[in-house]
Amino acid sequence: MGRQLLVIGSNGQLGRSLQKIVSTSSTYTEIMFTFAGREQLDLSHPKQIADYFQNNRYDTIINAAAYTAVDKAESEPELADQINYQAVAQLAEIAKQHQTALLHVSTDYVFDGNNHTPYHENESPHPQSVYGKSKLKGEQAMIEIGPQGCIVRTGWLYSEFGHNFVKTMLRLAQEREQINVVDDQIGTPTYATDLAYALLNIAETKNQPPFPSRTITKKGVETYHYANEGVASWYDFAQAIFEIAEKSCKINPIVSDQYPTPAKRPHYSVLSKRAIKQQFQLQIPYWRSSLKQCLEAINNNHG
Ligand SMILES: NC(=O)c1ccc[n+]([C@@H]2O[C@H](COP(=O)([O-])OP(=O)(O)OC[C@H]3O[C@@H](n4cnc5c(N)ncnc54)[C@H](OP(=O)(O)O)[C@@H]3O)[C@@H](O)[C@H]2O)c1
Repeated sequence: MGRQLLVIGSNGQLGRSLQKIVSTSSTYTEIMFTFAGREQLDLSHPKQIADYFQNNRYDTIINAAAYTAVDKAESEPELADQINYQAVAQLAEIAKQHQTALLHVSTDYVFDGNNHTPYHENESPHPQSVYGKSKLKGEQAMIEIGPQGCIVRTGWLYSEFGHNFVKTMLRLAQEREQINVVDDQIGTPTYATDLAYALLNIAETKNQPPFPSRTITKKGVETYHYANEGVASWYDFAQAIFEIAEKSCKINPIVSDQYPTPAKRPHYSVLSKRAIKQQFQLQIPYWRSSLKQCLEAINNNHG
């Protein structure tokens, strides 16, 4: 029997990107995939989590579920904490007990954004928002509990699925002649399909144990960064979307102070991807090339 892999959060951008790859690729035929959405596995209910794993066993879990509403989290800290921290701790305990490998996805928003050069995997996090703090607590719980597995931080995810910046920009281009977009937050737009391939690459790594430790963390849970190559401001990102999609809507650059949001976002959250590239020999696409692919998928109504 093939290895059993569970994807939690199967209806999100990353979850749906994983489903797309698995349903169209012949590369992962050795792996038996189970996709669980909120209906099958609700991370806000600890008992439901415990019950689910009483009845089901897996070799690997990819946790693509999270409380991702960055601004809303400021007024719902308990729920963000339950999903992004306590449920992750529970999953880590279960994974450790069942000898399951846990691939957990985290965020660039664990950093404060005061850097001017890309954040390395082992740099001290200092989150500025409820969301970032809850995700950091999830990472720390995973490291403390120490199942087999790893944490993969990413940033600025978009896809043909669900709600994201690319789809918002395309909608605004239909509705308005000009829009304002901040140009003082710098990161890397990352296509969820590319992240999904990277996670599958890690999941099927032939090295045993699957996640060799470079001893950054005391119990061997490695932290990696994955984003597309290159950097951009949200303004650059919006310009690229309109250029590739041939939209004529004008974009005015503004600073973050002119667009106040409940959650504070880092001004700079570019991630160094050195460890993941070295460990898994990944070829990471440039963000504009991947953006083109996503816009083609949206154009072909694959969202
Ligand atoms: N989006 C970004 O820009 C970004 C940036 C950095 C890191 N990340 C991280 O990347 C990962 C994937 O993000 P994404 O963009 O794919 O997020 P997403 O599209 O918002 O999807 C998150 C998924 O989590 C599910 N979920 C939320 N609460 C749940 C609960 N109580 N029980 C079970 N499932 C629940 C949602 O279910 P429903 O579909 O039912 O709502 C949704 O399918 C997350 O760990 C996120 O923190 C994202």
